[in-house]
Amino acid sequence: MPERALTNYDLEKMMDTSDEWIYKRTGIKERHIAADNQVTSDLACEASKIALKRAGITADKLDMIIVGTCTPDMTLPATALHLQRKLGAGKSGCAAVDMNAACSGFLYSMSTANAYIKSGYAKTILVVGAELLTRIVNWDDRSTAVIFGDGAGAAILTQDSGSRGIMESELHADGDYAYLMIAPGNGTFRAPAGNYTKIHMEGHDTFKIAVRHLEDVSRSVLKKAGVRSEEINVVIPHQANVRIIEAVVKRLDIPIEKCVLTVDHHGNTAGASIPLALNEAVETGKISEGDMVLLNAFGAGITWGSMLVKW
Ligand code: UT7
Repeated sequence: MPERALTNYDLEKMMDTSDEWIYKRTGIKERHIAADNQVTSDLACEASKIALKRAGITADKLDMIIVGTCTPDMTLPATALHLQRKLGAGKSGCAAVDMNAACSGFLYSMSTANAYIKSGYAKTILVVGAELLTRIVNWDDRSTAVIFGDGAGAAILTQDSGSRGIMESELHADGDYAYLMIAPGNGTFRAPAGNYTKIHMEGHDTFKIAVRHLEDVSRSVLKKAGVRSEEINVVIPHQANVRIIEAVVKRLDIPIEKCVLTVDHHGNTAGASIPLALNEAVETGKISEGDMVLLNAFGAGITWGSMLVKW
């Protein structure tokens, strides 16, 4: 996480909002905001160094780097290339690419890495979720400005994890809802005058669709894996809104106590939210070896997915 925290009280001084509204509607108390001289790959690099150290490998041993982000350093080259350079692994020549699936970016990246490993194409892959959303937030739009935060998380996937690892995963997208949440930025899209260049979201509709899809995809993954919801030890959901998380686990008959909740102090960090929550679960001992961990995410696109991991 970047050092600087931006609390709801700070936001009260910047726009017409209140700590009470933000906390009640989203569960967020504070989010972190990157320094002016930081870019997404800087956050990705910090997280990757920690992950590499914990995995006991050096960056030159990686076969591939995948960065799930919708806030890349620049249009080209991909953030994964900047990360590779910052990790000192440029000369290793390993493949490096970004995946933009917005808030589902980490799950898309993990599933892709899993497929490459299973096919035998790669043995060791660094998967990162990194976002600097506060740079594309419209600070004049209180309905989105209070939600987003910055951060990065990383994981190393290897071939030789025995019976542990990704048991099942499922990804989806529906481009018919592309305009539910957009950030045209410096893309080739030409917005009509007065239209948006920063993040714009139809929050209410997004909320309803998110709950339905997250329930369905989580159920589907559990069914395919032959695992009952009561066998789930820990849920690591995308941290968009605590009310979405509560609604989904209630429908799945999983107690909320099994969820790792970081939205209160991270806000919505899109593709970074799951690896950040996963890391917090590891560091606080909420996950133990052998646990069944259910992950799920929903984001702009619209994209959504779920994954079952035996930790
Ligand atoms: O990350 C993946 C994709 N994103 C999501 O999954 C996010 C899904 N959506 C949400 O989490 C919620 O829709 C929001 C948190 C974005 C908004 O909450 P809501 O309960 O859907 O509020 P709303 O947009 O329906 O607005 C309700 C009221 C409005 O006032 P009126 O028209 O009822 O008088 C808004 O103007 O709340 C007002 N409002 C605010 N008031 C104080 C909107 N934003 C704020 C604010 N502070 N920051």
